[in-house]
Amino acid sequence: MKKILLTGGAGYIGSHIAVALVDAGFEPIIVDNFSNSDRSVITAIESIVNRKITFHEADCCKFDSILKIIKEEKTIVGTIHLAAYKAVGESVEQPLKYYENNIGAMTSVIRAASESGLSNFVFSSSCTVYGTPEIQPVTEESPWQAAYSPYGYTKQVCERIMHDFQISKPNTKQVSLRYFNPIGAHPSGKIGELPLGKPNNLVPYLTQVAAGIREKLTIYGDDYNTADGTCVRDYIHVVDLAAAHVSALRFMMENNTSQLSVFNIGTGYGVSVKEIIDLFQEVNNMKVNVAYGARRKGDVEAIYANSEKANRELGWKAEYSTKDALKHAWNWQQNLQEK
Ligand code: NAD
Ligand code: WQD
Repeated sequence: MKKILLTGGAGYIGSHIAVALVDAGFEPIIVDNFSNSDRSVITAIESIVNRKITFHEADCCKFDSILKIIKEEKTIVGTIHLAAYKAVGESVEQPLKYYENNIGAMTSVIRAASESGLSNFVFSSSCTVYGTPEIQPVTEESPWQAAYSPYGYTKQVCERIMHDFQISKPNTKQVSLRYFNPIGAHPSGKIGELPLGKPNNLVPYLTQVAAGIREKLTIYGDDYNTADGTCVRDYIHVVDLAAAHVSALRFMMENNTSQLSVFNIGTGYGVSVKEIIDLFQEVNNMKVNVAYGARRKGDVEAIYANSEKANRELGWKAEYSTKDALKHAWNWQQNLQEK
């Protein structure tokens, strides 16, 4: 089995990638410091794939530790780098924490991989690099705007690092995947999003209200220039998102050209906040307590992906519907309650 270094592999998206890698015949080597995840996730991954998973507890900012892991594991053939902090609001309050961790981890992982002779590097970027786009859907060529948050800026800087690194080492193969809004959970209900404290994102907040953990969901603004007045996003099932990483690895391994490629990973359609709530209630046959509130500072009115490049070049497309994702999100929340 080909070994893949998977940083941040105990997290929400990383755990689903670990499963997708095993299903595709790769062996994930997880590196995580559990700063935003739990050790039990490793066991949960193992119970889905029915085999032992190798993991190393380490800080990705520490170059020597990452280099040592790559040397110990010997036959690693690629890297998927996810390890980062991701809370937009916290990044505004504690920018240095985000610059240090997200950019520090990027430079040390990319350097350790390169110094060990590894090519095939996948990075988890975000649609946040586009800011507030003027034209929908956004393509990979859509212009970037000044990042609203330090978190968003770290994604722009990390993509720039990949760009500069590619120029300095033209034989490298790199892919940056710009995720749109990942939601849902593994259909087994064994892994999913584990928000520590009050969730920032819509779907985990919604499932916590449905579960009675929070009193009500506030819709942040209904006076936007959209069909129903609420913001529009491209919600991608996390299992589909995970599959895109396997496609990206295969793309690099099967393609002779050394280059940096960028792909939007979304469904290609926009869904409003109100539609998410309605679909959630319909598919899970329940009523959720909702109130209208003021706009949230920094929110983008609407953004959804043109993912044709990923369809065409990676042979990847989203398979799950929004309804599937909302069903799986609720299934996961219910299982969490029972733990
Ligand atoms: P997550 O917090 O669940 O997972 C990140 C994992 O990285 C956690 O397990 C955390 O413990 C680990 N980590 C953080 N810093 C580390 C370090 N220095 N060393 C080792 N491990 C470290 O987040 P997620 O939602 O799974 O996001 C994964 C990646 O995808 C992140 O880079 C994030 O910015 C990016 N992304 C996420 C979203 C989203 O909405 N969830 C959207 C676009 C991009
Ligand atoms: C979605 C919509 C809210 C909570 C964030 C990051 C972005 C990317 C994905 C990493 C918005 C509305 C939310 C609530 C609400 N992450 N909402 N009530 O803001 O699109 O993107 O996660 O790269 O960088 O910014 O996602 O889930 O927070 O919000 O009405 O309680 O739901 O206003 O319109 P967002 P989100």
